[in-house]
Order: sequence, then structure tokens, then C-alpha cells
Amino acid sequence: MRHLIDPLDFTLEETKNILDLADRIKQNPDAYSHVADGKRIATLFYEPSTRTRLSFESAMLSLGGQVIGFAGAEMSSASKGETVADTSRVVSCYADIIAMRHPKEGAPLVASMYSSIPVINAGDGGHNHPTQTLIDLMTIRQLKGHLDNITIGFCGDLKFGRTVHSLVNSLVRYKNNRFYFISPDELKVPAYTIEDTLKPYNSEYYEVSNLEETLPKLDVLYMTRVQKERFFSEDEYLRLKDTYILNREKLNLAKPDMPVLHPLPRVDEISTDVDDDNRAAYFKQVQNGKYVRMAVIMALLEITDPLTGQKVL
Ligand code: CP
Repeated sequence: MRHLIDPLDFTLEETKNILDLADRIKQNPDAYSHVADGKRIATLFYEPSTRTRLSFESAMLSLGGQVIGFAGAEMSSASKGETVADTSRVVSCYADIIAMRHPKEGAPLVASMYSSIPVINAGDGGHNHPTQTLIDLMTIRQLKGHLDNITIGFCGDLKFGRTVHSLVNSLVRYKNNRFYFISPDELKVPAYTIEDTLKPYNSEYYEVSNLEETLPKLDVLYMTRVQKERFFSEDEYLRLKDTYILNREKLNLAKPDMPVLHPLPRVDEISTDVDDDNRAAYFKQVQNGKYVRMAVIMALLEITDPLTGQKVL
């Protein structure tokens, strides 16, 4: 049985197979509309979500399966003190696969150790968000045609942004990618990302603070929200939240084919006048999210692809 807790749980070849399947589902959704008949996903969300929870649920319904779950720890027996370990054992009796979001780093990993069904990490604290990473890879591959030889800029809250940590983890595995980390000092990318991820791969990286100066160098820009929920001090959040605001005027400094990605939700860091620019890719990411999650569910449930006659993993 396989779980998806960290983007590195899939090899490069498996990652490619998942992205290829997501592309096939996107082209031929009807061919996949009954492959998960009789299967159930449990969405266990201990932390707020719009895209991830609803796209997992939409993905399972689009595969012919069904959905159970809770949205908010207060709606579950976690509010009475039940552990993640016990909850995952219990839910294993009701469902075939679990998607779990939790504010504590490592909670989905714990769930996977006690569950008897596959567990997907749907975001754990500031740590990882592997299905978002697959979405980001699918979107970059669609728009740039490749996942190597890319200069990517990550801008905003690089300290708490789990989507950033997850995507860097994955992109270092492709050749000749270069990383610009654009942030204020207080929100720099964690030391462990540099020591444990970038340095072992000899990846070229730069830590900078000026978005305008960096924009012309980039092939891809990944904007992020300052993560209010992870700050200890409201004043500190208010001081930092508007450090970077991408608007149409600043976007004029960028290459004409530089996609702007953002995992969403956004607050003020991308002004709405960017939405009509053909480089705005964040709503394309949302659309890709459903196909990626359909592909991940199929992969972990070991469902045969009706178009190829093969399993994904
Ligand atoms: N991108 C993302 O994880 O969005 P939600 O928090 O709405 O699920």
C-alpha cells in the first residue's frame, strides 16, 4: 500500500506518470467517470480549505466514487481529544482512501502509520502539500513545455509557505533549475530547505528582497500569501503582509511568457488587474487541481487506466 505524504514519495518517473494521467483525464474525462465506482474518499480537514477539500471531493465524484468526511476539527471527535492515530484507524473502517489536512506538521504521516488504507497529505502545517506540488508541476509543464532549465522566483512568505517548500523539494530533482527566493528577512526560506534540499543537489539559488529587480530574470514567478494563521503576533503579520504586491505595472518588467503561479487563496499580493493578463496562471492551477487529484486517487487505489490498460504506479 502506498501513501502520499511528501512529494518525494513518488520517483521522477512516477511523478511523470501521474502528470501524464492527469493530462489524459483532462482530455477524456468521460473515459474515467466510473473507474472508482463503489470507492469512498474520507476528507479529514482539521484546518480551513476551499480548493483542496472541494477538489478532492469533486475528483472522487468525477471518478464515480463517493465522499465522506469533516471540514473543521470542531466537527469531529478531535474536539473531544481523539488522536489522529485513532481517527485514521476508525476511518479506515468506513472509506477506501483518506485525504487529511492538519495544522500540525507530520500529522498525516502519523495517520498513515495507523491507517489500513492509503493516506494523502492535503497540507500539514508549514511543511508539505504534495498534491499542490503536482498541480504546480502540471501547470509549469503545460505552460513552459518542460520542468528543467527553469529560473523560478518564489516571492512572499517563504518561511511558512508549505507549497514553496514542497515545490522546491520536487524541482531540485530536475536538471539546471535556478531559484530566486524573494522575501523580507523575517520570511526567508528555512535553513533546512537550503541545507537539506538545495545544497545536496548543488542547485543555484539566490536570496533577494527586491521583486522589481528580479522579475526580468525569471521564467516562472510563484507568488505566495503571507500566512496569517502561522504568525504569533498580529502586529508582525500586519507589518509584513503587503511587502510584495504584484500589479500590472510591475508585470511589465517580466518576460512576456513568464507564467504567474499562486496556490491561492490570495489576499492582496496579486492585484486583480493582473487577472486578465495572459501570464496569470493561478486559475489554470485550480482547474488542473481536480485532474491531478483524480490521478492521485487512481494511483493510490491501484485503479487500471482504461485508456492504457495499465496501473499508474
Ligand atoms: N491551495 C490550497 O491549498 O488552497 P486551500 O487552502 O483553499 O485548500
